[in-house]
Parts: sequence; structure tokens; C-alpha cells
Amino acid sequence: MPATTMDQLVSLCKRRGFIFQSGDIYGGLQGVYDFGPLGVELKNNLKAAWWRSMVYERDDIEGLDSSILTLRTVLVYSGHEDTFTDPLVDCKKCKNRMRADQIVDGKCPQCGSTDLTEPRDFNLMFKTNVGPVASETSTAYLRPETAQGIFTQFKNVVDSTGRRAPFGIAQIGKSFRNEITPRNFIFRVREFEQMELEFFVPPKDDEKWHEFWKNERLKWWKEQGLKEENIKIVAVAPEDLAHYSKATYDLYYNFPIGYEELEGVANRRDYDLGNHTKGQKDLELQAHVHPNKDSTSKLALFDDETKKWYVPFVIEPSAGVERGVLAVLTEAYTEEELPNGETRIVLKLKKHLSPIKVAVIPLKRNQPEIVKMAHDIKASLLKTGIGRIALEDSGNVGKAYRRHDEVGTPFCVTVDFESIEQSPATVTVRDRDTMQQERVKVEDLPEYFKRAFL
Ligand code: GLY
Repeated sequence: MPATTMDQLVSLCKRRGFIFQSGDIYGGLQGVYDFGPLGVELKNNLKAAWWRSMVYERDDIEGLDSSILTLRTVLVYSGHEDTFTDPLVDCKKCKNRMRADQIVDGKCPQCGSTDLTEPRDFNLMFKTNVGPVASETSTAYLRPETAQGIFTQFKNVVDSTGRRAPFGIAQIGKSFRNEITPRNFIFRVREFEQMELEFFVPPKDDEKWHEFWKNERLKWWKEQGLKEENIKIVAVAPEDLAHYSKATYDLYYNFPIGYEELEGVANRRDYDLGNHTKGQKDLELQAHVHPNKDSTSKLALFDDETKKWYVPFVIEPSAGVERGVLAVLTEAYTEEELPNGETRIVLKLKKHLSPIKVAVIPLKRNQPEIVKMAHDIKASLLKTGIGRIALEDSGNVGKAYRRHDEVGTPFCVTVDFESIEQSPATVTVRDRDTMQQERVKVEDLPEYFKRAFL
């Protein structure tokens, strides 16, 4: 297990404004979290890194942002209405509700009683009604995965972009699962974000692309700062595969709770596009439209060689954003013993993930020339586009360094008396990891940081 404990992370996240319990002032909504001033930056930076690597750096992937509210029919044909369930067991003695796999030696983990109900299927989807009148036909769901939005817009994306396989559609967005027992901070939650790619390939190439994406995803997580020794790749046992999967690799990360799933890379075959094609044919039959021979080509691609339509196979790397945030925090959290015996907490995040890129600190808050120079430096660094630049005018440099070490700010710039007396003006730049300081000319700062954040 890594040295970092969940208590250390929960405490840091609350203390420094990364993550709060939702509805905290009323006792909290279980399994739902809010991202605070620094959490939203970290989360956005992780999502931006994923989007960049998928959509901007590749030439074979398009982006999409589909709706959260999902037509019931979509989730009937995707198989979720029938099969997206967990086995629910009640303890008749203490009324504890649990998933069947949480029972320990046939006993309730809360009170130890063996008087338990038989497991029954509990559907994890959140149901709602669209429009003012609740009826059978107004039922909709909050999506349990972003993937279905991609499958149902497949044809529109292909028609509007002219894509041919292999190509992918990427999406980041919220999904919802009514977990029986949400737990372990932001690891298992009821409202969460997914980063999902559906990569469409000719059926004969599915295994080659499955291997490719498994390796790509491992590489990407390492670029986010996770050490390879803390990642395990496991082929999911056939009996544990999701209803749509031919084969799945799970990337496990060594969280404070032990190795748990960070991302799944599934071979979904033609399961989803095939089922939605069937759904469209059923609709035509209901409407008494005689299904014509083209109806099976609705969610298919044309093969230029065979001159036939075919339903592509899908390789799906699917990662949880919250689990990603928890993993990079686990990896980055460090406690260091200083020569003076004090302990320094430092978040050694990769620079591109840090919520604040540079903190500009005027040595004295009541010295107008120093304060003005700090403001001017902040404005000049903002123009570089490297991200959030914070002005730290608490007037206590030591405290500012401690705070920025704890939230992972890679650099602190301090404006002091020398800065306003010298020409050309210089400031000190302090490096988070080494704590080394160097004097840099103010006019050189934008270039200095542009290089540092390349
Ligand atoms: N789309 C895969 C999943 O949500 O688990």
C-alpha cells in the first residue's frame, strides 16, 4: 500500500478546498461530493489532459457532449433496464442494506447477524419523468454511462464528419448510479464524471485495437504522474464481464484502500450498435413501416472493399474522473521531514495538473510599490495562458509557501525590497519540489514560465 492514507487525503481536501461533502451544512448527501475552489481546477486540468490526448493530438477521434437525461428506449435496447443491477441483501436484525459481495462469512458486516434476506436485483439507474405528467411514456433515466449518447449519435457523427473505421468518439460528462453502499470518499459515488472513448474498428481488428488502447491508457496515466509500480492490469474473468463485453482489461491503481479499478478497457463488440439497430427496426414494425433493406445500415459503416455495410466493433477505454483525481492525489501526497524537525506537506502533482501554476507573493502587503509590481507580474503571467496565477497578499511569505506546497503550486514568485530598488527589476522564484530559490529578471518571467510549463 502507498504511504498515503485516506484520512490524510480527506483532511487535506477539506482543509485546502479541494473536495467537500455535498449538502454539508444539512448533514450531507451520501455518495455525492462537490469540488471546491482548487478541486475544480485539478479536475478540469485532468479532463483537459485527457481531451487533448484523445481529440487534439490524434487525427482519428471526434468529440461529443450528449445529454444526461436519456430516453428510456435507449436504455432498454442497451440492456441496462434489464441487467444493470447489483444484488441487494437486507439484514433482518439491524436493517443494514448491502451488496451481496459485502457479506462476510455469511454474516452482516454491521451487526454480525446471519438472518439475511435472499439477494434480489436492484437496478442502479436513477429514474425520472420528463414533462409535467408522470406516466409510463414520460419515464427517462439519468444516464448510467456516457457511452450510450455516443452510440445513439454514431450515425449523425459519421454523416457530418465522413469518418471511416478505425475512428473514435470521445466524451467527458456526468453519469449517475444509485450505488447501494457508496464508500471510500470519492472512490464509489452516486454522481460522477466519466472520460469515455468509443473506438470503432472493423470486426477482424478488434483484438489488435484492444491491446493498443490498453497500452495507450497505461502510458497516459503514467504521464499524469502515476508510477507504473502502482498500476496493475488485470484481464477480467469471463464470469465477471459486463453484459456487453467480449473481453475487458481493468487498470487497477494502488489507492489508499488497496488496488482498485481506475479504468476499464472493454471490447464491446457490435453489442450496442447492433442492439440499437434492432431497436430501430422494432420501431419501424410498430409504426407499420415495412423495414427496408437499408434499415440495418443505419448504425453501420460502408466497407469500400466488399461494398457491404457492416456494424463495427467497439473498443472502449472508460475512466472515472473522480477516481483519477483520487489516484493523482494519492501519488502526489508527500510528507517530508525538514532539517529543523518540522514536517512539510507537499503535493508533488505534475505541473500541468496543479490547480495554481504560480503564486505571486508581495513581501509586504502595505508597500504600494511592491504590491503594484506583484499585480503587474500576475497580469503578465496570465497572458502566457499557462493557467491560474494566484496573488498571495497575506503578507506572510513563510505561510504562503506552506499553503502552496500543500496545494501543489509548482512555483512561488516573491517580490521584495530588492525588486523595487534594482534595475532591471528581479524577483525570487521558488521551486516547490527542491525549495531552491533563484533570482530572475521580471522581464524574463513570461518566457521562464512558458518554458517550465511546456
Ligand atoms: N461505459 C462503461 C462503464 O460505464 O462502465
